[in-house]
Amino acid sequence: MVQRPFGFTKRKVAVIGQGTWYLEDGDPPTAIAALRQGLDLGMTHIDTAEMYGAGRAEELVGAAIAGRRDEVFLVSKVLPEHASRRGTLVACERSLARLRTDRLDVYLLHWRGEHPLEDTVGAFEQLQREGKILAWGVSNFDVPDLDEIHAIAGDGRVVCNQVLYHLRERAIEHAVLPWCEAHGVVVVAYSPFGHGRFPGPRTKGGRVLHEIAVAQGATPRQVALRFLVRRPSVFAIPKASNPEHAAENAAAGDLQLTDAELARIDRAFPRGPRPRALPTL
Ligand SMILES: NC(=O)c1ccc[n+]([C@@H]2O[C@H](COP(=O)([O-])OP(=O)(O)OC[C@H]3O[C@@H](n4cnc5c(N)ncnc54)[C@H](OP(=O)(O)O)[C@@H]3O)[C@@H](O)[C@H]2O)c1
Repeated sequence: MVQRPFGFTKRKVAVIGQGTWYLEDGDPPTAIAALRQGLDLGMTHIDTAEMYGAGRAEELVGAAIAGRRDEVFLVSKVLPEHASRRGTLVACERSLARLRTDRLDVYLLHWRGEHPLEDTVGAFEQLQREGKILAWGVSNFDVPDLDEIHAIAGDGRVVCNQVLYHLRERAIEHAVLPWCEAHGVVVVAYSPFGHGRFPGPRTKGGRVLHEIAVAQGATPRQVALRFLVRRPSVFAIPKASNPEHAAENAAAGDLQLTDAELARIDRAFPRGPRPRALPTL
């Protein structure tokens, strides 16, 4: 599994990680086995949120990483309605308890809400001083939001922006990705398989993925993941509910695509025009 420094944290993090949205919908032992399989295969970046299953996803993660906390790059998120100065501190304590740990590696604002960004940033900075989080970042932030939080927090404070990014949704490439790269902010691609709507084998794009996969001895999903993390600033966090899916996704971490293959995927899934606003799921 290829690892890269996660922005200014300098922590080496797997390029392919593990999402946990709706993980609680399935059989809990299978979900825990999937996360552990992912860890065994190097997918050390685990992404969760207080929102997922109203805390149940965090509890599953807590069970999966018990005894293995030091292997994990653990990320959770505060809901916008909790992101007041005090609310963020309280929400973080609740997440830590469900995750059965004393610290997060990154704590994110899930999306921008009504609370002033200054208050959320103040709470994040306090949590960092107290050692409860290593770093903090944002999610679903478009360029104006990024400009605003950067003006509040300064350089080297926002570690990442977690955004929607998959083959059929490349809007971030117009402005968000360049902004993040210019400011040393990591981009984390969420829903890298399109949240369950992966290009089918009979579609034009699906056939391109299939042909490249056959040439590489890989699978279309592995090819898609590898395309998304082709730039050093981007990490991806597919969600898998069973160990077989986790194993398939982890193997994308070692795949190398040629420039010609990357160009072919680029043509098969064009990024399209710049949207008025950042698409979200
Ligand atoms: N910040 C945000 O606002 C935000 C929004 C959305 C998502 N996220 C994060 O990003 C993560 C990933 O996004 P997502 O869950 O929306 O969707 P996704 O990862 O794009 O797709 C998940 C779907 O793909 C399937 N899948 C995964 N690996 C597979 C494989 N190897 N073969 C066949 N099917 C496979 C899963 O099935 P199984 O479950 O059956 O394995 C599930 O149906 C989330 O879990 C969450 O942590 C963040």
